[in-house]
Amino acid sequence: MSLEQPPNHGQSSHGLRGDYSHMRPDYTVEQDYDRYTSEQQHRWRRLYRRQIELVPGRACDEYERALRALPYEEGIPRFGEVNRALAAATGWQLVAVPGLVPDLVFFEHLAGRRFPVTVWLREEHEFDYIVEPDVFHDFFGHVPMLFTPTFAGYMQAYGQGGLKAERLGALEWLSRLYWYTVEFGLVRGKDGLLRDYGAGILSSPSEISYAVESPRPRRVGFGLLRIMRTRYRIDSFQETYFVIDSFEQLFEATAPDFTPLYRELARLPELAPDAALAEDRVVS
Ligand code: PHE
Ligand code: FE
Repeated sequence: MSLEQPPNHGQSSHGLRGDYSHMRPDYTVEQDYDRYTSEQQHRWRRLYRRQIELVPGRACDEYERALRALPYEEGIPRFGEVNRALAAATGWQLVAVPGLVPDLVFFEHLAGRRFPVTVWLREEHEFDYIVEPDVFHDFFGHVPMLFTPTFAGYMQAYGQGGLKAERLGALEWLSRLYWYTVEFGLVRGKDGLLRDYGAGILSSPSEISYAVESPRPRRVGFGLLRIMRTRYRIDSFQETYFVIDSFEQLFEATAPDFTPLYRELARLPELAPDAALAEDRVVS
């Protein structure tokens, strides 16, 4: 993570990968669909087939239902096609971007119900693991959740909250909330069992099962202050996952003004990624 910039919703924004030479002022570009090679289309289909096999029983129902209705099987999706379905479901729109975008640009898009999706696809040697979001991570991990109205509302509120956090110098705390919910969140399903809803988990061939099945990580009931105090790992599986009871809980718990929370956080010590607190509601 670069030192001169605040963390970019959990991902580094230095040494940007992608072609930023033809973008508009809001960092959007054309998808330019025909530039994808047949090799890339083939790689997408392999990524998709491997990952969708792993979804049943691990991803939450809302995610799986939306995923199965999306036109992902034949190749890299077209923004226009997904956008028609998304507009009807929640009014969100995907915008194509060259890669990671600056925090404020990202927040502005979310606040306007636009989700930035990276246009490039990972190389063959990155088939199993990639450090930056690519078109597969964004479409497979993030896009299906934008079809769930409550979660889609949370994402917009997060964008608005990001603009405010920037003014208050609170981005590092807020980025932990993004990380432990949008990227690595778990939810208790209607059957009472744990399910993945975080995009970083859902697009990973190994963490998708590790997060809900391994006895190793800590799983702790959602707590706003607890999450914002907790540092995270960007180079390996998470040591702690936070579990929400429902997307309504997530939306409501994050609705109040965070200003007093940020004041409190300034006085509290940070927690290590594997910290165990006496007051943690440990989920088994
Ligand atoms: N309620 C938050 C604030 O006042 C905004 C927010 C909502 C942030 C949802 C994140 C997620 O800053
Ligand atoms: Fe992501």
